[in-house]
Amino acid sequence: DVNQMPREEGLDHSVSLMREGYLYIPNRRRSFQSDVFETHLLGQKAICMGGKEAAELFYDNSKFKRSGAAPKRVRQTLFGEKGVQTLDGKAHFHRKAMFMSLMSEEGIQRFVEINRNEWEKAVESWAARGEIVLYEEAKKILCKTACRWAGVPLSDKELDKRTDELSSLFESPASIGPEHWKGRNSRNQAEKWIGGLVEQVREGKFLPESQTALQVISGHKDLEGKLLDPETAAVEIINILRPIVAIAIYINFTALALHQFPEQKEKLSSEDGYMQLFVQEVRRYYPFFPFAAARVKKDFTWRNYTFEKNTLTLLDLYGTNHDSKLWDNPDVFNPDRFKEKSDTLKYSLIPQGGGGYYEGHRCPGEWITMEAMKVCADFLIHRIAYEVPEQDLSYSLVSMPSIPKSEIKIERITRK
Ligand code: HEM
Repeated sequence: DVNQMPREEGLDHSVSLMREGYLYIPNRRRSFQSDVFETHLLGQKAICMGGKEAAELFYDNSKFKRSGAAPKRVRQTLFGEKGVQTLDGKAHFHRKAMFMSLMSEEGIQRFVEINRNEWEKAVESWAARGEIVLYEEAKKILCKTACRWAGVPLSDKELDKRTDELSSLFESPASIGPEHWKGRNSRNQAEKWIGGLVEQVREGKFLPESQTALQVISGHKDLEGKLLDPETAAVEIINILRPIVAIAIYINFTALALHQFPEQKEKLSSEDGYMQLFVQEVRRYYPFFPFAAARVKKDFTWRNYTFEKNTLTLLDLYGTNHDSKLWDNPDVFNPDRFKEKSDTLKYSLIPQGGGGYYEGHRCPGEWITMEAMKVCADFLIHRIAYEVPEQDLSYSLVSMPSIPKSEIKIERITRK
């Protein structure tokens, strides 16, 4: 028996998606009482789905593919063309292994040391400044961390420009008008910068440290034994730099959690292993990526519903992290919930995608993201004292990506 999937009537709902943001899919999953529904987005039929079983389905490579899934305006800003996000099958596996090779234990440890060192240096100047905006400072700390870790030279003079350029790639993908154009311009600039470096590396004019992203990606060969063209190599190196700068958003939410839930500081100071639970809960609780996108690879049926080849399909990441079937009191901040759960999170805690790292599109940066959040929490609790003045700390569930409105001002900063 084949049934009609619950369907949102009307010509196109892109406007509702922009108006409801992170809650667009969860709102309709609730009103249809269904984890899957059909609608029209970006001028085409689309399927939206969420929850653990939907995530398992979404990450089944025999059922979904990524080629042609990311809309053009997202490729023009956030992703770039021909990057790992757009690949399938063997080509994806081979390219993804290149990313994963950077995430060895030593690679992660080197990231943590660089990141901690950049926090130390930044904090030195904060005391004299009276007040700082944490989001702005974190982006710069992370831009320096990203470049050092990736083997990309960055002078002090360039810092503001490159931080701004990389940030505008993730601050603009859902925007239209001037913001979108700023994002496109930044992508062109960034690709020129990094593409030029790749060429210098290949010509032997610049020698990056070994095992850095610049070295590994400049020398990476595809399945036919050919080097990536310089544009694609630049896209992939930017696929490392950009999201490291984007961790600034989680830095802001980490600081917000410590402020909103002050009892967490106690537990973080006294309970062994609590840091890991805390960081998981920050990633589950606060909004970041609303959904991931794929296309149906070939016709199939699931729960008696037809999935037609090539249909755009969105997986509800935010809603799955807040799904009451998976989480007790999902809207309560409670790191202890992860004490029992750790082995069953592959398709339920999915702020950075679900499934496997190598065979699927799960975020290869998940470990260093968590490490950067831990470094930040350690600084905010143990290494500095500060006050949080009156300000608008609310964050929107509509604008994507969401950042606390004030971007978190802190003042009277001293070293501990
Ligand atoms: C993929 C989230 C940090 C590199 C993804 C995906 C999400 C995500 C949702 C897509 C999953 C899918 O399509 O199924 C995040 C968030 C981060 C973050 C919220 C926090 C800042 C990072 C970092 C790096 C990184 C630090 C690199 C060092 C990538 C790459 C992909 C990816 C290369 C594409 C993987 C593929 O297509 O196989 N990320 N990410 N991300 N992320 Fe992240």
